[in-house]
Amino acid sequence: MSKILVTGGAGYIGSHTCVELLEAGYEIVIVDNFSNSKPEALKRIKQITGKDFDFYQVDILDREALGKVFDEHGDICAVIHFAGLKAVGESVAKPVEYYHNNITGTLMLIEEMRAHGVKKIVFSSSATVYGVDNTVPYVETMPTNTATNPYGYTKVMIEQILKDVYVSDNEWSISLLRYFNPIGAHSSGLIGEDPNGIPNNLFPYIQQVAVGRREHLNVFGDDYDTPDGTGVRDYIHVVDLAKGHLCAVKYVLENKGVEAVNLGTGNGSSVLDILHAFEKACGKELPYKITDRRAGDIAWCYADASKAKKLFGWQAQYNVDDMCRDGWKFIQQNPNGL
Ligand code: NAD
Ligand code: WQD
Repeated sequence: MSKILVTGGAGYIGSHTCVELLEAGYEIVIVDNFSNSKPEALKRIKQITGKDFDFYQVDILDREALGKVFDEHGDICAVIHFAGLKAVGESVAKPVEYYHNNITGTLMLIEEMRAHGVKKIVFSSSATVYGVDNTVPYVETMPTNTATNPYGYTKVMIEQILKDVYVSDNEWSISLLRYFNPIGAHSSGLIGEDPNGIPNNLFPYIQQVAVGRREHLNVFGDDYDTPDGTGVRDYIHVVDLAKGHLCAVKYVLENKGVEAVNLGTGNGSSVLDILHAFEKACGKELPYKITDRRAGDIAWCYADASKAKKLFGWQAQYNVDDMCRDGWKFIQQNPNGL
């Protein structure tokens, strides 16, 4: 069976994807530097699947160490590349660190892949590449050059780098997966999102309010041009997203070329929709306060999800109630994280 190298496999989306890969019969090798994850996630992947895998605590910026991983596993046939820094606000404060980690790290990875004849990659891109000038629903053919922060620009630039790699060598097969807003957790409650410090994102913040770690949710603005005035996003169950990676891996193993593909549900939910769905899941009211808008936020963001269906035969199965049920289970079982 095919062996897949997963960078950032101890992280939120990576850990869920590793579970799906192992359950589908793939062999995996994980590389992570634990800059935003914990070794416990790896134990949990083994606990869920009952399967083992090799792990290397390696920073992808360390080209030599990365090269050794490829040397030791000459049968790696594709890479899923999750490793990267992802906090939008932090990227504004530390642009150099973000460009270096995300872009230099990806260049090191590409160089080592090329040196070892591995030319198939699935890359974690983001809906953030659609920037501010496009209108919803976002379609893969839209221009992607108006990101609003350094994090977003790392995704725009890495997509361009990978497109150029393909132009230079048509043997490559590249999937640029543009994720919308992944939330929720594995149905076992064993893995889920476990941010350090105060959560930047809506769902982990709500989870922490639900277990009493935060007093109330701050809703960033209720005067947007949306049905209830709060921002609308395309929330996707992280397990659906993980399954999308299985389809993308199969696609890159069987085809050549470069394809950008949205992974979203095609539906939008507001901040209050998510809060109320979570209240239903946990069976209690959750306190919130309306505050000012957050800088850089947009009113609407949701996918045209038709390309993934056409190209991969993939579409999301879970709804917002499922996402909240599983997210509640995870935080109840792990109120202080992993
Ligand atoms: P995460 O932080 O949980 O996972 C990223 C993993 O990469 C972490 O385990 C971290 O320790 C590791 N890592 C970071 N830099 C590394 C390096 N230099 N060397 C080795 N390992 C390194 O984040 P996630 O939510 O699982 O996101 C995974 C990918 O998906 C990221 O590239 C992110 O930008 C992208 N993405 C995430 C979202 C989202 O909302 N979560 C949306 C769109 C795109
Ligand atoms: C969702 C909605 C907020 C927190 C981010 C990145 C994006 C992608 C996914 C990686 C918005 C509101 C939030 C809070 C709130 N990541 N909100 N109170 O901003 O859509 O996307 O994650 O690629 O690039 O920007 O996600 O979860 O931060 O916000 O009211 O405490 O919730 O204003 O409307 P976002 P989010």
